[in-house]
Amino acid sequence: MKDFLSARRCLRRRLSGERYRHSLNVMRLCAELAVRQGISPDRARWAGLLHDCARDLPIGRLRRYALRSGRKPSSVIRSADTPGLLHGPVSRTIAQSEFRLTDRDVLQSIESHTVGRVPMSTLEKIVYVADYASSDRRFKASSSIRRLARRSFQEAFRRAVMGKIRHVVSRHRVPHPQSLRLLTALLNGFPV
Ligand SMILES: [Fe+2]
Ligand SMILES: [Fe+2]
Repeated sequence: MKDFLSARRCLRRRLSGERYRHSLNVMRLCAELAVRQGISPDRARWAGLLHDCARDLPIGRLRRYALRSGRKPSSVIRSADTPGLLHGPVSRTIAQSEFRLTDRDVLQSIESHTVGRVPMSTLEKIVYVADYASSDRRFKASSSIRRLARRSFQEAFRRAVMGKIRHVVSRHRVPHPQSLRLLTALLNGFPV
């Protein structure tokens, strides 16, 4: 595993300034929420820092990474929203191969931060919420969800899932099947 400072330097070279600042904001919120949830802030920091490490790759490279990892069905590869959907799993691949991360929960949190899944670990939910509600987000709900996450984390998570899915539907797109499974579980009160 790279040391944290050299990982930050390396990430800075991979991302636009704006995306890098977003990653640092997510990293800080992840660490804060982890402490509140009683889990390791260091692991949360790693997950937050690297969650978007593939986000600025050109679409061709994202596709090649995804195909090589063999974890994405072809329907996702063909999807019109490919960069949005692929950067989670590809960020995981890069965190593993180039940043030498081995912690499975951290890697899984990076992979699932975009569409979620069922079930999700506490760390996965933290990264999901922190990404949605980081201080650089411009939409209205982000700051209220950030505040809510500090006192009622599960409710903040639920609202983040709903908000993301609402956004996808408002653009006349079908949410990812994993997101729909997550929504169904939450609406039915199943443990997620
Ligand atoms: Fe992302
Ligand atoms: Fe992000």
